[in-house]
Amino acid sequence: MQLIPGEDLTAHVRGAFVAAFGHLPEAMAKAPGRVNLIGEHTDYHGGLCLPIALPHATWAAVRGRDDTAVRLVSTWGGEWHGTLAERPEGWASYILGALRATGHRGGLEVLVDSTVPVGAGLSSSAALICAVALATSSAPVEELVAPCVRAESEEVGAPTGGLDQTVALLGAAGHALLLDFASAARQQVPWEPGRAGLELLVVDTRTRHEHAAGGYADRRRESEEALAAEADELSPLHRRRRRHVVSENARVSALVAALHGGDWPRVGALMTASHESLRHDFEVSCAELDAVVDTALAHGALGARMTGGGFGGCAIVLSPVGMRDTVLTEISSAYAARGWPQPAALLATASAPATRL
Ligand code: GLA
Repeated sequence: MQLIPGEDLTAHVRGAFVAAFGHLPEAMAKAPGRVNLIGEHTDYHGGLCLPIALPHATWAAVRGRDDTAVRLVSTWGGEWHGTLAERPEGWASYILGALRATGHRGGLEVLVDSTVPVGAGLSSSAALICAVALATSSAPVEELVAPCVRAESEEVGAPTGGLDQTVALLGAAGHALLLDFASAARQQVPWEPGRAGLELLVVDTRTRHEHAAGGYADRRRESEEALAAEADELSPLHRRRRRHVVSENARVSALVAALHGGDWPRVGALMTASHESLRHDFEVSCAELDAVVDTALAHGALGARMTGGGFGGCAIVLSPVGMRDTVLTEISSAYAARGWPQPAALLATASAPATRL
């Protein structure tokens, strides 16, 4: 399995902007995708999460116009022309959502490109929103978190919880970002598995089940009901949803403590326990994700879990550096044996947050 590269697209994006619009951009920014190490389906409950920013990022190059026209070019999605008042579908909706949420006025030319696999659960949408917001606004990065969350939840209408945009804007190289959505507290936690001879692989199942958006909204509603009700009045389903949220928050704290103590086997075990909870109690995993996790664990990984919203997308695998080929080859064989399309993989080092270029 080849690793998906996370190369620097700055020069390429500048050149592509000139080719598309006939002049240089006024400003450029890039924002990373993310993986969540642990703390899944907790952000919208005021819970704890521990994401890292990926080396894979989205670039936005922009230039203002004298009229009110908005002209968008995406190297993967084509072109869109219109005005700020319009509500297109697809990738253009994230760009217009970012512009409206940050209070942008006036016409604009925008070109975007990305190394974040699109639609894989690595927050390509948050990376796009944050890159556009940063390129077009002069506000301090910290002040862009709330508008970027609103861009996705209110402008695009995806009921997500804020983890993705927060780490894209405020993550740090070599660190995971501990987020407490109850108090809004944030803390950088050193994340350097390489020092222990380990690495974090992201395996993209390349599946996105059709009910992903509806499933996310259903789980959000079910778990909100479960947390609001009296414990002794819960149905078995609501009991499972609640048990996931409560136990997942405890696992985040335990994993941070294990990191501080350098206890990597415990870090791995907590990741795997998180997967089991998402699989059986929250029921957001799927056969492809389970196959990655089970196969990785059977071939030397210290821990593995699905990451993100679930119903397809990606799993993360914490394994010894020397085991990479074995783990990926075994996953590849497991997929081939089931007749599934081959997955893809990338190396997840905790990388820099969004930056103006
Ligand atoms: C998606 C959402 C996040 C979060 C995760 C699940 O990635 O965008 O806000 O809810 O699912 O942890």
